[in-house]
Amino acid sequence: MAHELPKLPFGPDDLVPFLSAETLDYHHGKHHKGYVDNLNKLTVGTPQEGASLEDLIKTADGGVFNNAAQVWNHTFYWNCLKGGGAPSSAFEEKLAGTFGSFDAFKEKFNAAAVARFGSGWAWLIQNPDGSLAITTTANADNPLREGVTPLLTCDVWEHAYYIDFRNARPKYLQDFWGWVNWEFVESNL
Ligand SMILES: [Fe+2]
Repeated sequence: MAHELPKLPFGPDDLVPFLSAETLDYHHGKHHKGYVDNLNKLTVGTPQEGASLEDLIKTADGGVFNNAAQVWNHTFYWNCLKGGGAPSSAFEEKLAGTFGSFDAFKEKFNAAAVARFGSGWAWLIQNPDGSLAITTTANADNPLREGVTPLLTCDVWEHAYYIDFRNARPKYLQDFWGWVNWEFVESNL
């Protein structure tokens, strides 16, 4: 069965003024959709048809891996947005216990995201021992490949922010925190 582009979990104007409807239209309707279409072109009618995105991320290479990971990464990214509240006090304490404070966590995440050269993703992940860590990946790469659990991501490909922030990746990351869906993030623990 072919993979499908999931609907956005919010309306086209729901992330304004962080991300414009134009950004969502291009990012979801063209980029995300393009990865779905490419994945289907590469897998339908092959033994990889019917494999889950997670299986393809863990086992595939080349174009199948790149497109499967980009489909998964974008769906995960959309689910991480449109919150706007705060983490639960228990999760905030967990973040503070690892990174020093909630603000220090955000600063460290942003520093890692800004330092990611070129296109990629910034992540908060949970290790198999339960500990938390910040990591970044290049291009389509995904932490599931390393056997860890993604909790939160931010897309730092230019296509994620160029319409609204031009080349100002740090400002995009600064504003990102006002829109995180902590309920979703904590559900990944
Ligand atoms: Fe993207």
